[in-house]
Amino acid sequence: MAERVLVTGGAGFIGSHTCVELLAAGWDVTVIDDLSNSSPEALRRVQELAGRELRFVEGDVLDEAALKQAFDEHGCSAVIHFAAKKMVGESCSDPLGYYRTNVGGTLSLLTAMRRHDVRRLVFSSSATVYGDPAPGACPLAESAPLRPSNPYGHTKLCVERLLRDLAASEDGWQILSLRYFNPAGAHPSGRIGEAPRGVPENLLPSLMQAAVGRLPQLRVFGTDYPTRDGTAIRDYLHVVDVATGHLRALDRLPEVEGCTEYNLGTGRGVTVFEVLEAVRRASGRELSTVVEGRRPGDATAVWADPSLAEQDLAWKAERSLDDICVDAWRWQSANPEGYGS
Ligand code: WQD
Repeated sequence: MAERVLVTGGAGFIGSHTCVELLAAGWDVTVIDDLSNSSPEALRRVQELAGRELRFVEGDVLDEAALKQAFDEHGCSAVIHFAAKKMVGESCSDPLGYYRTNVGGTLSLLTAMRRHDVRRLVFSSSATVYGDPAPGACPLAESAPLRPSNPYGHTKLCVERLLRDLAASEDGWQILSLRYFNPAGAHPSGRIGEAPRGVPENLLPSLMQAAVGRLPQLRVFGTDYPTRDGTAIRDYLHVVDVATGHLRALDRLPEVEGCTEYNLGTGRGVTVFEVLEAVRRASGRELSTVVEGRRPGDATAVWADPSLAEQDLAWKAERSLDDICVDAWRWQSANPEGYGS
């Protein structure tokens, strides 16, 4: 009898790629998503890619009735919780909205899980909980200081602490929080990928939209960082590697006691200019740039020590920066407007 997993935010960028891997691995999948930053077309294509159907409940994790429907009608033995707001800049102008959705939504989900005695959870956390590490601190292990520097990062750390407190308060909770570094790229089929609403904040979608002509150029936020080429360093991780990380975590949950955090990263730091060159190679487009000042709140260098996930979850990033850019270009050039209106 196949087990069923409830995936909140499963129509989103990482959620949709994870659902493809879950279905392919034999999990039955129910998605709950309010479609505020995602498209039902993504779910249609997920099922096309997996050759299997999933169940879908349209709703917000703050909507108790929608959650009740998801648990009552479909049942599940575990939950993967992606549904959240995720834009650093937006979080600074709307902290209430970020705490309501990211913390309040998780509280609502945990209450429903407890009511239905479902106590296995994989939580979508973020390397943003590390803030701006001290010079020389990278690669970052899970024990690195947690100093988020924006409301988005504060909500992710708040939820991590909530999960630890819950797991310490009563037996039976089996929880893994996955701290992603910089997810990027697209499914190699080119059928699903990143489709941010409005003007993208993140580097890869900005580069892709410049390459496909939706943006006039790439704005480079700062070339005066103390790095090898003056631009900031990050750990870009292929979204399919992120997806398989969730599968490994889900498989591991039955052996987990309480709550633990794992970094999902490649262990390699890459500069903005190095990503720009990789996108130029992948797209064959020249891509003009305009250098601007540093973006407030940006860190100089953040990259992972992924050894704990490799050891405990038998997970290791397999795809390179060029794989990320080739797959992202295949998606963007085939879907210039993302999933459409
Ligand atoms: C990367 C680098 C920018 C855009 C955030 C969150 C993280 C995750 C990913 C949710 C920085 C530079 C960017 C552009 C640029 N979000 N850049 N021009 O800020 O490392 O991480 O988004 O899970 O949790 O913290 O990612 O892609 O926005 O920026 O020069 O048009 O690219 O300054 O140095 P970031 P990013």
